[in-house]
Amino acid sequence: MDGKVYEVPSEWASRAFVDAAGYKRLYQASVADPAAFWAEHGRRIHWFTPYAKVKNTSFAPGAVSIRWYEDGTTNVAYNCIDRHLDTRAGQVAIIWEGDDPSEAKHITYQELHDEVCRLANVLRNRGVEKGDRVTIYMPMIPEAAYAMLACARLGAVHSVVFGGFSPDSLAGRIEDCGSKMIITADEGLRGGRKVPLKANVDAAIERLGGGGVEHVVVVRRTGAEVAMDPVRDVYYHDAREMVTAECPCEEMNAEDPLFILYTSGSTGKPKGVLHTTGGYLVYTAMTHQYVFDYHDGDIYWCTADVGWVTGHSYILYGPLANGATTLMFEGVPNYPTNSRFWEVIDKHKVNTFYTAPTAIRALMQAGEGPVKATSRASLRLLGSVGEPINPEAWEWYHRVVGDARCPIVDTWWQTETGGILITPLPGAIPQKPGSATLPFFGIKPEVVDAEGKVLDGAAEGNLVLADSWPGQMRTVYGDHQRFMDTYFSAYPNKYFTGDGCRRDADGYYWITGRVDDVINVSGHRMGTAEVESALVAHAKVSEAAVVGYPHDIKGQGIYAYVTLMADEQPSEELRKELAAWVRREIGPIAQPDLIQFAPSLPKTRSGKIMRRILRKIAEDEFGNLGDTSTLADPGVVSDLIDNRQNKQ
Ligand code: PRX
Repeated sequence: MDGKVYEVPSEWASRAFVDAAGYKRLYQASVADPAAFWAEHGRRIHWFTPYAKVKNTSFAPGAVSIRWYEDGTTNVAYNCIDRHLDTRAGQVAIIWEGDDPSEAKHITYQELHDEVCRLANVLRNRGVEKGDRVTIYMPMIPEAAYAMLACARLGAVHSVVFGGFSPDSLAGRIEDCGSKMIITADEGLRGGRKVPLKANVDAAIERLGGGGVEHVVVVRRTGAEVAMDPVRDVYYHDAREMVTAECPCEEMNAEDPLFILYTSGSTGKPKGVLHTTGGYLVYTAMTHQYVFDYHDGDIYWCTADVGWVTGHSYILYGPLANGATTLMFEGVPNYPTNSRFWEVIDKHKVNTFYTAPTAIRALMQAGEGPVKATSRASLRLLGSVGEPINPEAWEWYHRVVGDARCPIVDTWWQTETGGILITPLPGAIPQKPGSATLPFFGIKPEVVDAEGKVLDGAAEGNLVLADSWPGQMRTVYGDHQRFMDTYFSAYPNKYFTGDGCRRDADGYYWITGRVDDVINVSGHRMGTAEVESALVAHAKVSEAAVVGYPHDIKGQGIYAYVTLMADEQPSEELRKELAAWVRREIGPIAQPDLIQFAPSLPKTRSGKIMRRILRKIAEDEFGNLGDTSTLADPGVVSDLIDNRQNKQ
């Protein structure tokens, strides 16, 4: 059963940029001749030197190379700011809503220009040049946006690290890309709680033994007393006084790097996903316009954090390239009350609201009251991103939040894809709750079986992409071989997404979740290997295996099986200690929900942990363990089942 279909409301079919016939026509054109299609749409941004070459991409084994608009030059900050000044200098670019409901700011395009130039000058005075990497570890304050755009202006490559990551995680990311400059704040503020950002930066640098970090620029957010190294550290408000509000934009080649964003994979350390300049901006701007049917004057709100790709592409770059008004929210959905999201919508007259299923499910548990206490009359369109949305949550979002008038765009994409790939267009594509529906222009999804055979029609298997699009990541920073191995080796000549999916008889795609050792906790991607290595770093742990299990609110929870050192005894206290340990090692998002002490783990005779069995036990599917005959000691399994941890 593919469930209900929600037809495109008639006012949408006439209002939207693209209707059903338009979608078919444009999609056909985009896949029939990608170079011609993207040659035309690349002109939506301003180029200093126009491109003559459009597409030069190869997924060939051992020779993957992705280049778009490679002889064009442009600058992302120029496109997001300067280009708009003639017509929009006084228009609000960013509405900032603070954690505390009494705090808000409206930043015009002119003010954005001046602030970004000042911050760029502060960086330039400290030696930051084109190509240098700058780590940004910030709360959701306007200065985070200024910092990213300041880097883009100078041609420096930003690496934003989510403020919830630990000093260790931050240190690894600083070291991997070799940044000499860090931009941070004294403290962050979320849900009334303070986050010690500057202290974490100090701890990270200490862990690196200095690590080549020459400068730390500290934005004052809470005004807390923080340690300041007199040589290395400077308060932004002091440095800002010494510079002007004019800073030229560096001329960048389309393929010059724009940013690195670290993301978890099934093995090893997080990978530095590298995105470049021209194609990324064309793709994010275009998807922002069509997927959210963005028209001049709309107030648009994406609730993500700038520490994730959604914040990069759909709080900042896509919207600002389109001259939009984008809302940036410092807080959380349930502070001070469960009405906060809806109050912000009423306060700022938000038309388009884009959030994650995990937030919807959490708010759903609080009932309809907190939603119905608000008007939400300004809302026109709702969006979802980050994980599969279950039909119940979709229906609630539609009926309660959107008063059954607003279409929902369930957008499937990844850090690696730069922008949205599979999604409804609200004026063109009827929605089915739980399905990301159909591919965006230029995207060629395929469903393949384990052997790589392409499946036609209604089918279930792994999701691959048969051709490149301008927003695609170009490489893993500093490790092109890892890029090719991770994404292009499972299925030759195709990009492998790591996701499973089903395509129904109408050609709609239903993403079923990761098929690799990545779990998606509250829409945050986590490698099970990362959590395992944090656990085994604890002195009392000898072995650990981590899997995901279904969780009502988070989508997936983290289930850890832990074998202790011979002389250690399991206890409730140790369980808490290990959870806190992982939280400290990686960050709160990695904290295991359930920890089971296991005398031993199920292994094959060659010593490989059989994760399939561990997954089934965590998922409560003991009746369905599959073949256990290859286990070295089949007795292990019954102990695991007997001591399985209770859910939620
Ligand atoms: O499994 C898919 C899931 O999130 C993964 C990508 O995570 P990340 O790189 O952190 O980017 C999240 C924001 C784009 C995907 O491989 N995912 C993302 N969006 C959806 C989704 N799963 C189902 N439906 C979606 N709409």
